[in-house]
Amino acid sequence: MNGGAGVGAGRFATYPSLRDAVVLVSGGATGLGAEFVAQFAAQGARVAFVDVQEEPARELVEAVAATGAPRPLFRRADVTDLEGYRRVIGEVAGELGPVTVLVNNAAVDTRRPTAEVDVAAWDAGMRVNLDHHFVAATAVAPMMRAAGGGSIVNLGSISTHVKLRDLVVYRTAKSAVEGLTRALALELGADSIRVNCVIPGWVMTARQLRDWVDAEAEAVLDREQSLPLRVQPQDVARLLLWLAAEDSRACTGQDWVVDGGWM
Ligand SMILES: NC(=O)c1ccc[n+]([C@@H]2O[C@H](COP(=O)([O-])OP(=O)(O)OC[C@H]3O[C@@H](n4cnc5c(N)ncnc54)[C@H](O)[C@@H]3O)[C@@H](O)[C@H]2O)c1
Repeated sequence: MNGGAGVGAGRFATYPSLRDAVVLVSGGATGLGAEFVAQFAAQGARVAFVDVQEEPARELVEAVAATGAPRPLFRRADVTDLEGYRRVIGEVAGELGPVTVLVNNAAVDTRRPTAEVDVAAWDAGMRVNLDHHFVAATAVAPMMRAAGGGSIVNLGSISTHVKLRDLVVYRTAKSAVEGLTRALALELGADSIRVNCVIPGWVMTARQLRDWVDAEAEAVLDREQSLPLRVQPQDVARLLLWLAAEDSRACTGQDWVVDGGWM
């Protein structure tokens, strides 16, 4: 959880339409997903999240509940097990009610030169970075239709738009996420289901800071971004809250970039 505290405390927006909304976040145990879970809960939403990492998930549930926000519901699910994941989504809806906000967030950005990517690695990368978006969207669409509408937010990536190497599978999958967003927005729009794609720049999650953000990376950020800041998980979460809320009711099928002005 990075900076979830303070949401709605006067400086940032509170969205009445998110109160009691049933929200599902994939990959919600750590990183951006954990921030999304915390911030939706701080808005009074009933949040469920899935992940393969159980310990940080349990810690997150306790940390959010300790703030007085509604206690998030964690279910262990590997989103690459598509049928298993679909079942878990049904169970979540059975417990919390129809999901009306879906955040497709789980991903793995394995870096590997193209020459070392075999078909198995390609398939695995597509499975974890793309396929589950479709499965989750089609699982919640009937619930959203019955509820009178909903909001689906897919996580894209700046890596698709700038020159980053050794990410052929991830970049291709994230490009497809943008295409999927537009296709679903068109087909689900008649049921008042909105589908948007949030494209984060380089976000300072704990994992990014630990594994990748060294002096060289800082220099890249200083050179490439228009704004002299570091994009934080809460910056991405705030955009996502707006896209989930009724405040953005007329917006669908779009890419929304939060990158400090890099692209
Ligand atoms: N952090 C960034 O700078 C950045 C930049 C651009 C895009 N993004 C996108 O934002 C999203 C979140 O990024 P992040 O940096 O927080 O990622 P992360 O790797 O730090 O966290 C991803 C989460 O997904 C979970 N997960 C991975 N595989 C899973 C599986 N098979 N089943 C269930 N859960 C699984 C992980 O356990 C983890 O909790 C991703 O879609 C990513 O592509 C991030």
